[in-house]
Amino acid sequence: MAVDNQMYDRLAHTWWAKGGTLSALNTLIPGRFAYLDGILEARGRAYAGIDVLDLGCGGGLMSEAYARRGARVTGVDPSAGSLAAARAHAELSGLAIRYEQGTGESIPLLDGSFGLVSCCDVLEHVNDLDTVSREVARLLRPGGFYFFDTINRTWLSWLVMIKMFEEWVGAIPRRTHDWDMFITPDELRASLERAGLAVRDMTGLSIDPNPLRLAPAIAKMVLGSADRDSALAVMGPSPITSVVYMGWAEPA
Ligand SMILES: C[S@@+](CC[C@H](N)C(=O)[O-])C[C@H]1O[C@@H](n2cnc3c(N)ncnc32)[C@H](O)[C@@H]1O
Repeated sequence: MAVDNQMYDRLAHTWWAKGGTLSALNTLIPGRFAYLDGILEARGRAYAGIDVLDLGCGGGLMSEAYARRGARVTGVDPSAGSLAAARAHAELSGLAIRYEQGTGESIPLLDGSFGLVSCCDVLEHVNDLDTVSREVARLLRPGGFYFFDTINRTWLSWLVMIKMFEEWVGAIPRRTHDWDMFITPDELRASLERAGLAVRDMTGLSIDPNPLRLAPAIAKMVLGSADRDSALAVMGPSPITSVVYMGWAEPA
């Protein structure tokens, strides 16, 4: 079933609403930064002063997180409604973030403009992964790097992301995802290599894999005794790459 990318316009009012459909993506942010902080530290860099492109920025959740850490941020997304929500919220927050309309396949920005291209929860929504990989490579300046997270195409991702989240629990709308558009780590690595980027690391982003903590978190969500955001808030870097995984790459 085709992915419904129009929902980011219809549901744009929920990006920053407490308990809203799209604001659930906030629960992924601490786990992403737990990983990213280590990459920057290993490279002797800080967020302050880095030009970040938040590709597929939606309502600007990650853009604002980067801006609060001192980065100069540009967000790009095809959804006009999401960009309007992002601009309005940045103004409310007093954050100077530039937002532009565009797709990952055709990014309306100059070559070599960014020290960090960040693309979170977007690659499984694009039509042409190879073109996006080439666009990312084009936009990175020497010494820059690419941070991504996306969803693996496995039986477990079908069970968790399609059956559990969309159909049984209803935590996310139907057709948020199309299992056929999920990307295995090997497919992503090969696409990046074709674009001249070398993957340096990949790791999982999941709820705590310790079964003693994982089982009660899932049970609470299924039984409705915990709200979705508090159940998901235990997400972090993890050895489990079979649902959501993240990683980074740099020019080869
Ligand atoms: C699940 S949201 C993720 C938003 C944001 N990155 C975050 O983590 O909060 C997916 C986003 O990808 C955007 N999108 C869909 N197709 C795209 C494309 N071809 N290029 C770039 N972004 C796209 C959608 O408009 C939406 O804002």
